[in-house]
Formats: sequence, structure tokens, C-alpha cells
Amino acid sequence: MRDLSNLHTFRLPAQCFDFVEVNSADNLLTLEPQEPWYLLGEGSNTAFIEDFQGTVIHNALKGVQVDDFFEYTRVTVAGGENWHELVSRLRSMDINGLENLALIPGSVGAAPVQNIGAYGVEVSQFIEMVTAWDVEKRHWAYFTPSDCEFGYRDSIFKQTPGRWLITEVSFLLPKKWQPVTHYAPLNELSAPVTAQAVFDKVIETRQRKLPDPAVTPNAGSFFKNPVVSVEHLKALEAKLPGLVSYPVSDSSVKLAAGWLIDKLGLKSLSVGNVGVNPQQALVLINNGQAQGSELVALAQEIQDRVYEVTGVTLEPEVRLVGAHGLIDL
Ligand code: EPU
Repeated sequence: MRDLSNLHTFRLPAQCFDFVEVNSADNLLTLEPQEPWYLLGEGSNTAFIEDFQGTVIHNALKGVQVDDFFEYTRVTVAGGENWHELVSRLRSMDINGLENLALIPGSVGAAPVQNIGAYGVEVSQFIEMVTAWDVEKRHWAYFTPSDCEFGYRDSIFKQTPGRWLITEVSFLLPKKWQPVTHYAPLNELSAPVTAQAVFDKVIETRQRKLPDPAVTPNAGSFFKNPVVSVEHLKALEAKLPGLVSYPVSDSSVKLAAGWLIDKLGLKSLSVGNVGVNPQQALVLINNGQAQGSELVALAQEIQDRVYEVTGVTLEPEVRLVGAHGLIDL
């Protein structure tokens, strides 16, 4: 048995039956886990809600390589590297592109899995290739961006959980750079906007609104922003004036789930030691010695209350792991 409370940022009490640390590609060649197993990076988008009766495989692969070309920089990074350290290192080398994604918790290997995104940028825009080990069929595989089937917080890796252990991600960062500033609060920056200014503003904003998992255990946005039809949006706007939404296509929009939770008055909800973060209602927090069952109960209560008023089902963005593997809410 191995304690998992320090291996996921929600820090729920949980153990796993077996634990494998992957430090080198050679470790993968001999890896033949019994089912069930769970692939873990830094545990910032995973909540172990009870003891997991299987094997946790922890990606601890390290290494960063930077190659300079005339029009772009290629950065090849091992899956177990920390995401924010990579973004900071590129900033200090004056390599631009990833600055909107500063301070996103987690590992580099997890970035393509849920196509991390913030402030108008998604990581998929910069990915050249993802290299992964097929844990089921035991071979290497190479994914171009179209093979990755990227969507909003989605990819082929997320669709086939447990299969692909991402060993390396290569990014192509064009030297011809334009800041992405259409999202608030980056639209307040005064011209000419530098990558450093974007990086600093993103860090300042995230530090203000999102609790530091090292201080208040949490897993970032707990729910995804739900996509609804334009007709549904119109009906909701009549009921909920000021409703925040973002266009997705001609016929659909993404609703700000944090706004819904906030405006439905759910910020004060809590179950045991799990509550809603007062600065950003989309984040659920562990206020102390929380239990997994309390997180599940609070998430379901929020889902029910939002559904009653809007007819929209909020889906967790965080992956919940129960005794035998992933569970759906
Ligand atoms: N809002 C409220 N009350 C709240 C929370 C939000 O009124 O309690 C309003 C905000 O004022 C804003 C809107 O809702 O008008 C959206 O909120 P915010 O800009 O904070 O972003 P979000 O949609 O809640 C998404 C990502 C974040 C990412 C931010 C910034 C998802 C699920 N979340 O959050 O990603 O950092 O945009 O781009 O897409 C994460 O995935 O873990 C994450 C933190």
C-alpha cells in the first residue's frame, strides 16, 4: 500500500495497492501492470476519493531540450517535468508563446491529455508531436496534433484513459509572435504588450483568484464550462441577466460555470470540510481533513442545484478515482 494524499493536490486520504515510479524509458519496457491501473502526473487534476485497489503509475520522466531554427524554436520536454517551470524557463530564455498558460498546475505530460488552456490560449496550438508508451499493447506511438483529436479540455488521451503514458511532448514556438490579449484582464495591458507583461499579469490574476494548492488543497476548475445551444442560451439569459458566455460555433456557446455557481448563491455551500472557493466559485477546496465522500456529495449538490435552475448538467473536469478506477458523476 502507498499513501496518495501527497500525490494529488486535493490531498484526500487515500492509498493505492501498488505504486510504480517511471524514471526512464527502460522502466516502461518491463511495465506489465495488473488491472486496474491509473497513470498519474503531478495529481493536480485527479482526486483519489477512496483507496484505489490497483496500481498507480507515476510519470517522473525528466529532461528539456531546446533547438533553435530560423523561424521557430522547438522545445522537447519529458512528460514528468513541471508545467510552470517549463513556462518560466522559456520566459527567461525569451522564447514566447506559452506565457498565457503560466502557473497552470501539473506536469508537461498532462498538458496534452486535457489540452490545458487559459486566457484565450490552448496548449494544442503549439504541439508538434506527442510521444507515448502504450501501456496496454506495449509499444511506442507518435501523435501529430490531428492524431491527438484535441477539443476543449479533451484529447484522444483523455478518451482512452490508462492507455497512453506520455513520455515526451515537442512544442513548436514561432519566433514571429503576437500577444493574445482578448481575454480579460489581459485586454487592460497597455501597448506595446510584451510577453513578460502577459506572463506577469497571468500570474498575478491566478494568484489572486485561484487558491495555492500548497496552502489550500484544490484541483483547479472542478467543472468544465458547459456547452449549450444558442436557443438554450437565449432562454437562460431571460432568466439570468448578465449570464457570461463565450462563442464556440454559430449554434453553440460555452457558459461560465463559475458565474452560474456564484450567481445561484452556491458559494456558501459546503459538505464537511469541502467548500466552494470564495474568490472563484468553479474551484472546490479542501478546508481541512476532507474525505473523498464529502467532495462527491458537494459536487453532486452543485450539479443538482445548477440543473434545477438551468437544465444544464455540469461535468467534472477533475478526474475522480474510486476503488476500481475512474468514476463518473
Ligand atoms: N465568475 C463569477 N463568479 C465566480 C467565478 C467566475 O462571476 O465565482 C465569472 C467571471 O467574472 C468571468 C467568468 O465567470 O466573467 C469566467 O470566469 P474566469 O475568467 O475566472 O474563468 P473560468 O471560465 O471560470 C477558465 C478555465 C480556467 C482558466 C480560466 C482563465 C475552465 C473549466 N476553466 O475558467 O482553467 O484559468 O478560464 O482563462 O475552462 C482549470 O482548467 O483548472 C483552470 C483554472
